[in-house]
Amino acid sequence: MSLPHFFIFFFCVSLCVSSSFSALLAPITKDHTTRQYTLSVYLKTPLQPTKLVLDLGASFSWVDCTQNYTSTTYHSIPCSSSLCNAIASLACSNCFNPPGPGCANDSCAMFSENSVTRKAIIAEALVDSLALPTTDGRNPGRLGLIPEFVFSCSKTSLLKGLAKGVTGLAVSKAFSSPYLFALCLSGSPSAPGVAFFNSDGPYYFLPEIDLSKSLVYTPLLLNPVGITIITYYLHPSDEYFIGVTSIKVNGNNVPINQTIMTIDQNGFGGTKISTVVPYTVLQTPIYKAFTEAFVNESAALNLTVTKPVIGVCYNADDVSSTLVGPAVPTVDLVMQSDDVFWRIFGSNSMVRIVRKGVDLWCLGFVDGGANPRTAIVIGGHQMEDNLLQFDLGLKRLGFSSSVLLHRTTCSNFNFTTNNNLK
Ligand SMILES: *[C@@H]1O[C@H](CO)[C@@H](O)[C@H](O)[C@H]1NC(C)=O
Ligand SMILES: *[C@@H]1O[C@H](CO)[C@@H](O)[C@H](O)[C@H]1NC(C)=O
Ligand SMILES: *[C@@H]1O[C@H](CO)[C@@H](O)[C@H](O)[C@H]1NC(C)=O
Ligand SMILES: *[C@@H]1O[C@H](CO)[C@@H](O)[C@H](O)[C@H]1NC(C)=O
Ligand SMILES: *[C@@H]1O[C@H](CO)[C@@H](O)[C@H](O)[C@H]1NC(C)=O
Ligand SMILES: *[C@@H]1O[C@H](CO)[C@@H](O)[C@H](O)[C@H]1NC(C)=O
Repeated sequence: MSLPHFFIFFFCVSLCVSSSFSALLAPITKDHTTRQYTLSVYLKTPLQPTKLVLDLGASFSWVDCTQNYTSTTYHSIPCSSSLCNAIASLACSNCFNPPGPGCANDSCAMFSENSVTRKAIIAEALVDSLALPTTDGRNPGRLGLIPEFVFSCSKTSLLKGLAKGVTGLAVSKAFSSPYLFALCLSGSPSAPGVAFFNSDGPYYFLPEIDLSKSLVYTPLLLNPVGITIITYYLHPSDEYFIGVTSIKVNGNNVPINQTIMTIDQNGFGGTKISTVVPYTVLQTPIYKAFTEAFVNESAALNLTVTKPVIGVCYNADDVSSTLVGPAVPTVDLVMQSDDVFWRIFGSNSMVRIVRKGVDLWCLGFVDGGANPRTAIVIGGHQMEDNLLQFDLGLKRLGFSSSVLLHRTTCSNFNFTTNNNLK
């Protein structure tokens, strides 16, 4: 499959949402058909509930403007404006259809990209009102308005491959300024997780547990080359990389060639975090060494891999359960030093597979092939019930490891509105 590559001059990385916001939040719901995570926001005037797929790695948010886009506050961005410069517009568009959202003359255009299908289109940029509940970290309060939310005004065809009911895609940094947000993804089909914007805590989960207190930090790394779908000339990638240096299974080092663990000058190698990848993907040599070590360490726990082998699976009957999921070897992603590691317990490493006649726990990691661009892509299943704080100002990621250890879950945020909040 050959991907389209577009080259753009970048002037400013910021999406230029100016005012300094109060703390905001959005519920995050998992779509179980696509395993995507969707953010619930309010868009337009009057405000309309809108669901957008959460994508950490994309450059811009976009919305399908071709269906039912009615709002009294939208406007396009003139090509000569500083805002147009700031969003790295690559084109100026004119429109000969009746004027409307996505159809204006002298209008700044930008990319919409779908990272699931790896399709991208150029569409007019649009500005409209967006609102999210304010929060004190405990409850949602009144809605807080982002009057000048910038997004790309896309088409219905780009929604293909995304969860039902969504009308676009959101990059989480677009809702915060300075760029600071935290995600707590829930795997529960009925109970949402939560995203916090513009707040470094507290993040309270029932019963009265502030998860900001259990964060450990590692640097967020810049990949010098952005090659998602679009190649931005002279612009680093918008994805979030972290410096995983080694992997341990039950405390024992998995032998891995160090070269692919760091990002090279062409943007290859390293470890990134992605909410559109359902299970962590490992480059083949890492996958092989890792599964071998896992099987080895499981044998020490008297766990035997089932046959016929579909990946690494164990009969659920043979696996006892703990506070943090099935009792299997722990997996540590070790960062800048031996004492900074993201510990992955059974609830995040294993996936329950119940089908006619089988009930298995299977290792939820995927072989990414011999030559992927990125050696390790940490996926949604491994992020669930972990709090992750992305601080682009301090260039660091805070991670909690499993919040189940603190006897709460990401679906334990109290979504009852407290109208007394300012
Ligand atoms: C457009 O809005 C109408 C009225 O609110 C609704 O019935 C219809 O389903 C909407 N169409 C789409 C494609 O969202
Ligand atoms: C754009 O300008 C052209 C030429 O002046 C005009 O025919 C067209 O109606 C304008 N389109 C919009 C959306 O205003
Ligand atoms: C590690 O990987 C690099 C790049 O793929 C390769 O050049 C090197 O020979 C490898 N080292 C070992 C010890 O296998
Ligand atoms: C698995 O265990 C065997 C025997 O204890 C050992 O020789 C081998 O190095 C181990 N492999 C890994 C990948 O840990
Ligand atoms: C594994 O099985 C052996 C033999 O049945 C037993 O002696 C040992 O205690 C078991 N180990 C664990 C970790 O359960
Ligand atoms: C959730 O928040 C509301 C509003 O502050 C409060 O009245 C309620 O007691 C909270 N629920 C729990 C289970 O603490």
